[in-house]
Amino acid sequence: MSAFSFAVEGTDGEARAGVFHTPHGPVQTPQFMPVGTLASVKALDPEDLQRLGATMVLSNAYHLRLRPGDETVRAFGGLHRFMQWEGPMLTDSGGFQVFSLEGLRTIQEDGVEFRSHLDGSLQQFTPESVMRIERNLGADVIMQFDHVVPGQSPHDLAREAMERSVRWLERCRVAFDQLQREDTLAPTPEQALFPIVQGGIHADLRRASASAIQGVADWVGVGIGGLSVGETKPDMYAMLDVVNEVLPKDRPRYLMGVGFPEDLVEGVARGVDLFDCVAPTRMGRTGAFFTPTGRRSIKNAAWRLDQSPLDPTCTCAACARFSKGYIRHLFVAEEILGLRLLSLHNVHFLVALMREARDAVLAGTFAGWSRDWLARYHSRST
Ligand code: GUN
Ligand code: ZN
Repeated sequence: MSAFSFAVEGTDGEARAGVFHTPHGPVQTPQFMPVGTLASVKALDPEDLQRLGATMVLSNAYHLRLRPGDETVRAFGGLHRFMQWEGPMLTDSGGFQVFSLEGLRTIQEDGVEFRSHLDGSLQQFTPESVMRIERNLGADVIMQFDHVVPGQSPHDLAREAMERSVRWLERCRVAFDQLQREDTLAPTPEQALFPIVQGGIHADLRRASASAIQGVADWVGVGIGGLSVGETKPDMYAMLDVVNEVLPKDRPRYLMGVGFPEDLVEGVARGVDLFDCVAPTRMGRTGAFFTPTGRRSIKNAAWRLDQSPLDPTCTCAACARFSKGYIRHLFVAEEILGLRLLSLHNVHFLVALMREARDAVLAGTFAGWSRDWLARYHSRST
């Protein structure tokens, strides 16, 4: 009996509410996963994450391979024990990071050679080596090694990358199956490998990718990649519509690296179950925070004497105690508590947003809820 399963508990239009079971516990979907690139969700303690309601955390094979090294993480008993997060985890394969190393990398059929962004040392990732790294890290869900191209890539380039991603998926699967069979002392003996749908902004390539992936194996869940990488929002939403039609309805779909609040709502409306993005923590560190009426900057002088919380309707630990005027002061004075409070609020905002979406799906009110939510979010932009 597999530790992985997915149950759809309700649907409303194309939106779904479900539960994804993993070896480290269940994940209610739709769900936003905070990103802990280097085995830490920047500025947040695992206890903070648990308290604000996050259930699944993401980390990254590329970064952890370079520092502290996947063997080191394994020596600590895997990522869960290393970072003290006992809930479900996912690692990305590094495909995306390696391809963003413009000028520092060479792509061949076997894999990618690149120079470390830290010390310039020569490194190589292949589908096989990435499966070994992700085995050592021990996340519940591990992503295939894929070839990502910019969002506006022409058909021939997007096709080449998509077809290579399918060939690499076949190699990932062989290596993954062998590790599951033979490396039984790994931190998380039963992991799930997710394939990644590619194809740029070309509907025919997206359909071909989804179909080729399903020809390789019967997957626990599926990643949707190559989006939010420079294409327009209408193009991204159109690709989600296409992919939603062709992917199996009884498996979780994970939209990779997409995490602005409006994209989460639009994604759920198109059948997406899982999201991740560095936006809430990265933007939090630059002073931006989400509210139900759009994004704001805490550095705005207008908040100097403002004694109200970031969002009066928010139930996060930052909004429970601190005023905008105080947090603005922390940013102006470069006190690190400021970064922490905005990161906390922003991650809470996305996690709570997905909980609200889930409730709306189960209540059969998702269409009206999402229309009203989007109208309010876009009502005032600053
Ligand atoms: N993160 C965001 N997009 C992608 C993608 O297309 N592939 C991988 N591996 N990671 C991503
Ligand atoms: Zn808050």
